[in-house]
Amino acid sequence: MKKIVLLVLSATLLLTSCRQRESEPQESMWDQKTDSVLKLMTLEEKIGQMVLYTSDWDVTGPTLRQGYLDDIRKGNCGNIFNAHTAAYTRKLQTIAVEESRLGIPLLFGYDVIHGHKTIFPISLGESASWDMEAIEKSARVAAIEAAASGINWTFAPMVDVSVDPRWGRVSEGAGEDPYLGSKIAAARVRGFQGADNNLSDTLTILACVKHFAAYGAPQGGRDYNTVDMSERVFLDTYLPPYKAAIDAGALSVMSSFNEYDGVPATGSKYLLTDLLRDKLGFKGFVVTDYTSINEMVHHGVAKDDAEAGLLAVHAGVDMDMQGEVYFKYLKKQVEEGLVNESQIDDAVRRILKIKFKLGLFDDPYRYCNEEREKRLVYAPEHLDASLDVAKKSMVLLKNENEALPLKKGEKIAVIGELATSTRDLLGSWKAAGDWDTIHSVLDEIKAFNGDKNVLYAEGCKKVGDDRSGFLKAMGVALLADKIVMVIGEDWEWSGEAASRTNINIPGVQSELLEQLTKLNKPVIVVLMNGRPLDLTRENELADALLEAWYPGTMGGKAVTQVLFGDYNPSGKLTMSFPMNVGQVPLYYYAKNTGRPIYLPNDKYKSKYIDSPNEPLFPFGYGLSYTSFVYSDIKLSTAELTKKGTLKASVAVTNNGGRDGEEVVQCYVRDLVGSVTRPVKELKGFEKILLKAGESKTVTFEITPDMLAFHRIDMTYGTEPGDYQLFIGGNSRDVKTTNFKLMP
Ligand code: NOJ
Repeated sequence: MKKIVLLVLSATLLLTSCRQRESEPQESMWDQKTDSVLKLMTLEEKIGQMVLYTSDWDVTGPTLRQGYLDDIRKGNCGNIFNAHTAAYTRKLQTIAVEESRLGIPLLFGYDVIHGHKTIFPISLGESASWDMEAIEKSARVAAIEAAASGINWTFAPMVDVSVDPRWGRVSEGAGEDPYLGSKIAAARVRGFQGADNNLSDTLTILACVKHFAAYGAPQGGRDYNTVDMSERVFLDTYLPPYKAAIDAGALSVMSSFNEYDGVPATGSKYLLTDLLRDKLGFKGFVVTDYTSINEMVHHGVAKDDAEAGLLAVHAGVDMDMQGEVYFKYLKKQVEEGLVNESQIDDAVRRILKIKFKLGLFDDPYRYCNEEREKRLVYAPEHLDASLDVAKKSMVLLKNENEALPLKKGEKIAVIGELATSTRDLLGSWKAAGDWDTIHSVLDEIKAFNGDKNVLYAEGCKKVGDDRSGFLKAMGVALLADKIVMVIGEDWEWSGEAASRTNINIPGVQSELLEQLTKLNKPVIVVLMNGRPLDLTRENELADALLEAWYPGTMGGKAVTQVLFGDYNPSGKLTMSFPMNVGQVPLYYYAKNTGRPIYLPNDKYKSKYIDSPNEPLFPFGYGLSYTSFVYSDIKLSTAELTKKGTLKASVAVTNNGGRDGEEVVQCYVRDLVGSVTRPVKELKGFEKILLKAGESKTVTFEITPDMLAFHRIDMTYGTEPGDYQLFIGGNSRDVKTTNFKLMP
């Protein structure tokens, strides 16, 4: 502890005067503290702060390679990821603080994406709640538990817009829409870092916005593949969620694996400096994705790692994740004059300043408290929050013949491997979540409906073509009043490196479903998956479809409560579900084209000859056990002036027999632009609770800045003219009216 005390003392002495002066802004105090530490550092020690290495894991818990332990001791590694638990991070922190020359504390990063121990639904599922408070709460719980386990930095939120369900990582994002994606990005940053971005609070952790930039648009949906899009699409569609996260105060950003406009993001000065720092005003540090500096050699823009490192440092990368490039080459490059030491100083300043903000210089062990860890991990209120978000994330896609809700006491046949799987409930980023102690869908249905009223047969596996269990499943189903089949994808089929060319339900699950429907009993399908799937066949077969995603630690209970109507589903899709994979990419904010499908001429139109253009389930879609009707739209004015506000209102009525929540959505179309404009763009939404029979007026306020875009000359702004406005319960079924934006 000696060294760190001395260090902080020396930093603090310099600052005593500015602390005392109340008016001195805190930022400049941190800057001065940072500088005071920087002054003490050798070039090697500075480069050490720009290095991030992974911890490993064995059966007894996290471990670190001997070489990395030595690097920490020598001051050659200032940051570790994948190490967790209060005890283990304390052990590593002690080495950094007690055994390295300057005793600078380590940052501990981890992929805490949708929960740390208490796992929430996958991010795409959470987004379907359209509930910003719930999403913020989820990130907050994740931060509290991670911070209690020694973590002070999460590699989240992932804010990559994507319109391609073949890409497995859509499970980690917020879907296809830049407006909703921006709201969710900001909510997640608030959740992780705290609403006031007070990182010195030990219940918050540093957020990392990723993957900068445009990682969500790999060609063919193949992970890590080339991204090629117009600058206009990038700026108008892909950039807004990154910007929103940065505006919300996120203090680290991860560079992406992909290239953008021919330049790998990790070596792109345009992305990492001109855009991120100069235009977006980002003040934190940039970390690479895993070995993405080295990968620039494979991209073909550097002949070796050393050259790739130069590209990265000149582009504005502050920290090298796992690549060992900065560690191996940067010192020599500074000595040879290829890199200015002032560039290194800038990078180190950004990193150290955050260590100060996190309070690590005041108490490097503040996140390593085992008593606190025991108390906070899996706290009952965290499990409650996870259950709440899981229920809100579920989307009822179909419900006919009164298949749902189930009635307590009905005899239910539960079929499918996924009904008993607890590992799948957690999805691909399970962080430190346990699955051997949680309850499956089958466990919870039994607990709710009584053992004797629930029959189970696996029927078949998630993958493979073994049909030997079909007969037993049919026998079990024959004895039941209703059949609940849980089908979907294995958890490893979504997330990183999990791209698919076929987005059907895998294996023989749907074949068994078809057999079951022949029994002429109500068949309810519960879906567990991490991406929009082609559900055309299942939609024809089943009476009800409930999209449950990978719903997290409390997922079994959440599915059960929704199935039995203890919770009335309110989720709405945040990505379009196509009718077939050939329609992909498919998204609601498409362009009209010069030959839209509604033109009378039959053949020469923008359409398929073997499939409709429309999705099976559109963006924003989701049913409830009750129903809602919308009045026509009322406008406060049909002419929106430059400084004015237009108010658009609808009355929404719950005309069904149950209380329920509805996500009221407002879209706009710019009818004539200097460049072609999307047929609809989401501009507002409100989630309302309506009692059976109740009516509420929902009003959206449209201001001109909400209509801005990159015009023909690439300036950002509005264009006067005619607009269409739509309000409805999804992007397809809407009421419409027109207004004018005045010059
Ligand atoms: C690679 C992934 O792309 C990124 O999202 C993640 O944060 C890092 N690995 C670290 O695990």
